[in-house]
Amino acid sequence: MTQVRSACIGIVRESAEGETLVSATPTTVRQLIGLGYDVVVEHHAGAAAGFTDLAYEQAGAQVSDLKAAWGADIVLAVHPPTAENIDMLTDGATLVALLGPGRDAQLLDALAARPITALAVDAVPRISRAQSLDVLSSMANVAGYRAVIEAAHAFGHFFNGQVTAAGKILPTKVLVAGAGVAGLAAIAAASGMGAIVRATDPRPEVAEQVRSLGGEYLAVDAEQQASTDGYAKQTSGDYDRRAAMIYSEQAADVDIIITTALIPGRPAPKLVTAQDVARMKPGSVIVDLAAAQGGNVDGSQPGQTVVTDNGVTIIGYTDLASRMPAQASQLYGTNLVNLMKLLTPGKDGRVVLDLDDVVQRGITVVRAGEKLWPPPPVPVSAAPAPAQRRPAATQPEKQRPSSPARRFTLAGVGITALFLVNVFAPEPLPRHFTVLMLAVVIGYYVIGKVHHALHTPLMSVTNAISGVIVVGAMLQIGSADTTVRVIAGIATLLASINAFGGFAVTGRMLSMFQKG
Ligand code: NAI
Repeated sequence: MTQVRSACIGIVRESAEGETLVSATPTTVRQLIGLGYDVVVEHHAGAAAGFTDLAYEQAGAQVSDLKAAWGADIVLAVHPPTAENIDMLTDGATLVALLGPGRDAQLLDALAARPITALAVDAVPRISRAQSLDVLSSMANVAGYRAVIEAAHAFGHFFNGQVTAAGKILPTKVLVAGAGVAGLAAIAAASGMGAIVRATDPRPEVAEQVRSLGGEYLAVDAEQQASTDGYAKQTSGDYDRRAAMIYSEQAADVDIIITTALIPGRPAPKLVTAQDVARMKPGSVIVDLAAAQGGNVDGSQPGQTVVTDNGVTIIGYTDLASRMPAQASQLYGTNLVNLMKLLTPGKDGRVVLDLDDVVQRGITVVRAGEKLWPPPPVPVSAAPAPAQRRPAATQPEKQRPSSPARRFTLAGVGITALFLVNVFAPEPLPRHFTVLMLAVVIGYYVIGKVHHALHTPLMSVTNAISGVIVVGAMLQIGSADTTVRVIAGIATLLASINAFGGFAVTGRMLSMFQKG
């Protein structure tokens, strides 16, 4: 019987000047071996990220030279290959890397000139199913976090307010422009450090996410086209004018601005003008994540730190993820392991590329020397919020209270029902009805004020209440009165659905945090 050889994965050392990232860590190498592959790692591939050759060997990889890594059946890299790298690929090899297929047509031609398959991990469609492979989101997550660290370092003050024997310290105020992946990571990091965080974004659906991370959403009162692909649409002139008022107002108030605004395929929208920068206090800091795409901030320089005449530091680093190499490599490597799981259905060390699958089709830019870019568009459910006018331009969004007329009508109906039952109904109905009405009022005010982030623990409480209802209903089920028996049966059924449904939902949520 002939034994089919497992394919070999090559982990290459990034050749770009100053690059610290690596496409696999010792942890992810173990996972790749678990999928049935052999792994060869180029000498010192992980050194800049703190992973030694010995650590890779202990994980089960073979450490070898550049030729062996680039000559493997499957090559995992971070950055696009050079012309020499492409020459080193063996016929039939699969290359997995950030290939920027929309930007670099020449690279695509060079790849398609070889009988190889090239998978661009930066082309993963933004759909829920592909989240575990989304390397751009992983890198943006690290970059958003690191932006806060850079800002805090340059700002040089506590983020949280303190009252100390040496005096009172006010909390730092941070504005985050663009609440996508990087923006939300920045909001979480800054609010975790105790800052007052505000954020704005043309996609109204992010308001809830901003609030759940401890930020305050600044709504712009202008119509905006809803997102259908997880990315923002071009903002209207009306939106930009109103947003400019917010930036101008906030610039005079906040200590730190972090900008992350991006519309794919377009230059970065200019959000913070030179006048806004001039309004900021001396010592304030701006981190412009979009500096490489033209910048969201007037005066930001890609890869540079600039200090303005009025003492504002503008940071335009384009390598924020590489400034946290161990963390970023671990996330990138895990995304690639998830991709390899998708490509290895038999867990037998053999790649099976299924071009009927939208995710695999989306990232396949070259297959066996045939160019397959661009892929057909992938419709996604980005939860577009219904178009609606939002509150005043420069005010934080507030919840709309119900109108006084509605509240009076409801209170009137409740009081009348209570009066009628107490006067006309036989005992013990009035007593029970009074308890029910009190429960409705108290429940409405208590539960209505629970923050959305606490709805999961709230569900556990309702499960407990459902348990009490089940016990009460079962005690009544032996009643001689048919109506009581029917109501008790319905109550048992409904409360059981609530309790078991709650456990099922909690179980699903917990499984999202479990390994494997
Ligand atoms: P994303 O697409 O998840 O988020 C971008 C956000 O900007 C979206 O929420 C979008 O609605 C918002 N936006 C679009 N137009 C806007 C406007 N006029 N005003 C305010 N918000 C607007 O993108 P992601 O992944 O968060 O990346 C953000 C930026 O960070 C990109 O420019 C990306 O290239 C950059 N980046 C920079 C790194 C660095 O080292 N400097 C590393 C990783 C990402």
